[in-house]
Amino acid sequence: MDLKYEIISDEEIESCRDLCNELMAFQKSKAYITPERFDSMNFETRMVPSVKSALKNYTVIVKDGEKIVAYVYSNISPKEAYSNDFATFFDLSSVNNNNVGCLSQFYIKDEYRKYGIGSKLFNMSMDWLKQYDDVDDYFIFVSNGNTNALEFYKAKGFHVSHNILDGFITVLRKKAE
Ligand SMILES: CC(C)(COP(=O)(O)OP(=O)(O)OC[C@H]1O[C@@H](n2cnc3c(N)ncnc32)[C@H](O)[C@@H]1OP(=O)(O)O)[C@@H](O)C(=O)NCCC(=O)NCCS
Repeated sequence: MDLKYEIISDEEIESCRDLCNELMAFQKSKAYITPERFDSMNFETRMVPSVKSALKNYTVIVKDGEKIVAYVYSNISPKEAYSNDFATFFDLSSVNNNNVGCLSQFYIKDEYRKYGIGSKLFNMSMDWLKQYDDVDDYFIFVSNGNTNALEFYKAKGFHVSHNILDGFITVLRKKAE
């Protein structure tokens, strides 16, 4: 493996299209509560609008030679962005500041998992979030059935806050250190 970690600009997120769509299919395959919700979720409906509406974005891709094998996408958004027609992701009054950080999308191709790539991308994302002194609350939303991801984030210091959408999503959170 000849791995290169590359931070990409918002104009370059197209390179995440295939992996983002793989992530949605992966999550659907794991889900046992309303998996059909994933049918309308893809790069165009999830990543593009999210990057447009967030205040700041941070996307890292990992290349093995020319092939993109992993990406992580995090952002800073106004907390109000998490109360919409789809769901109220968390109690807005539990966040003192105006903005929150979110590790929003994370995917490593199957054959590249368990080599520490996830840990490295996770740490890069947390280091990026940490620079925003006015952001104290970090969130990750894990869809049902994805126990592996849940355990991964718990091992990294996130805790389960609550479930939403009848258990479709588990909300994980962590205070900035
Ligand atoms: C969740 C995910 C991002 C983790 O990435 P990863 O690269 O597999 O993670 P790491 O290799 O850093 O760590 C995973 C485990 O492997 C272990 N590991 C790391 N390097 C290892 C190595 N060289 N040999 C054996 N095990 C190793 C780690 O200790 C860790 O174990 P732990 O979870 O018990 O602490 C990845 O599995 C993934 O993309 N899954 C599919 C998509 C997904 O679920 N995304 C999250 C959506 S919310």
